[in-house]
Amino acid sequence: MSQEDHKLRQRIRYRHVEKIYKDLEELGYHDNDPLKVTDLITLDQWHYFGLEPVDAAIKLLDVREGARVLDVGAGIGGASRYLAHKTKCHVTAAELLPDNHRVGQDLTSRCGMTGSVKHVCGDIITTELGKQEFDHVMSFQVILYVEDKPRLFRQLYDSLKPGGTIFFEEFYRLKDVENSDEQAALDFFLLCVNTMPTQQDYKQLLEDAGFQVTVHDNSDAYSEYTHGRWENWDQQRDKYVRLYGEDMVDGWLKLIVTTKKLCNEFGLVGGGRFLARKV
Ligand SMILES: C[S@@+](CC[C@H](N)C(=O)[O-])C[C@H]1O[C@@H](n2cnc3c(N)ncnc32)[C@H](O)[C@@H]1O
Repeated sequence: MSQEDHKLRQRIRYRHVEKIYKDLEELGYHDNDPLKVTDLITLDQWHYFGLEPVDAAIKLLDVREGARVLDVGAGIGGASRYLAHKTKCHVTAAELLPDNHRVGQDLTSRCGMTGSVKHVCGDIITTELGKQEFDHVMSFQVILYVEDKPRLFRQLYDSLKPGGTIFFEEFYRLKDVENSDEQAALDFFLLCVNTMPTQQDYKQLLEDAGFQVTVHDNSDAYSEYTHGRWENWDQQRDKYVRLYGEDMVDGWLKLIVTTKKLCNEFGLVGGGRFLARKV
């Protein structure tokens, strides 16, 4: 798939980027009002389990004041801002889509954090990351979308200082696909790539790039989370339609039902955390 097609498919999935402004309005904020990071944290984390994996990254990476951190696929910058706020480190928030990037920049600026969070826009594969620039790399549910994972891990390795560390939270495949229903759900979820690696595949890819790797499986939590999220959206559909409109809600529900099937009914997909050190 060409880079342009990849981008287009991502844009369709993340087309509701302006939702955060509706959510802020509900909280009583007006356009351009200054914001607090602590008000945003329930709204701007576009990955499972809210702040918990970001706190896990801070702890496992041992992020210190002044450290330089790259956030791969930063979305609207939720994890980047929280990390910089919590640890006083410097974050580069790298994001593919111009709309996500623009909203991320706006929120960072309104939080008064442009000195600690720098937003860059582009495909991570072609973004100039520099050599030995970062103490740490983090990423939350993004790497699945990158087609050339061997190249990505080699580039991230080169961008880290000696002894630097990477943390990422990611979906992985738990078994082989067994029938056409499972394949259709997986294809819809994968969006712009053909395959989902297993946990062992990811470990091997990281080791091939030169990293020393530890893995924390979290698949039971993925199963619980996706089921609970589906119940919530299914039961409260009318309320969400009133807030966000039918197109947005139906688009999300399709993804929410699919991930519930993949992580529960089919037992095909789980997820976990990878911690790796440059040696
Ligand atoms: C599930 S969202 C997670 C966003 C963010 N990490 C968070 O947790 O709030 C995935 C993000 O990855 C971005 N993305 C996908 N492919 C990318 C690529 N090749 N380079 C940079 N970002 C990418 C998407 O545009 C989207 O914003």
